[in-house]
Amino acid sequence: MPKVKQINHVAVVVEDMEKALSFWRDALGMELHELRDVPAEQSQVAFLPLPGSEVELVQPTTDDSGIAKYLAKRGPGMHHVCLEVDDIIGMMTQLKSRGVRLINEEPRIAADGKRYAFIHPESTSGVLVELYQI
Ligand code: CO
Repeated sequence: MPKVKQINHVAVVVEDMEKALSFWRDALGMELHELRDVPAEQSQVAFLPLPGSEVELVQPTTDDSGIAKYLAKRGPGMHHVCLEVDDIIGMMTQLKSRGVRLINEEPRIAADGKRYAFIHPESTSGVLVELYQI
């Protein structure tokens, strides 16, 4: 059986990165490890790690990406929870067999080699869930 190992990250979509950092970095005092442009996701992402997980702040850099549309429609806020699994293919097969609606039918591969896929909020009580296998 594929297993969920831990929460890898929580992602928050923001309109204004500096304003978001004034809370997450400055007021809370979390360490900003990296602020990176992610052209594949048409986003700028801030990584604020904690032991075993991290908070990611995501600001769209174009108007027509999925995340830009999400921001336009719903405003800033919680975007997704990422669960790290030991076997992403096995987990996706298990979910499909239970009628769970996946956004990605196959895992996608990030620049750093991680495999990931998203599960539709319709099947998760309204939370966009990302699966990761490192
Ligand atoms: Co993510």
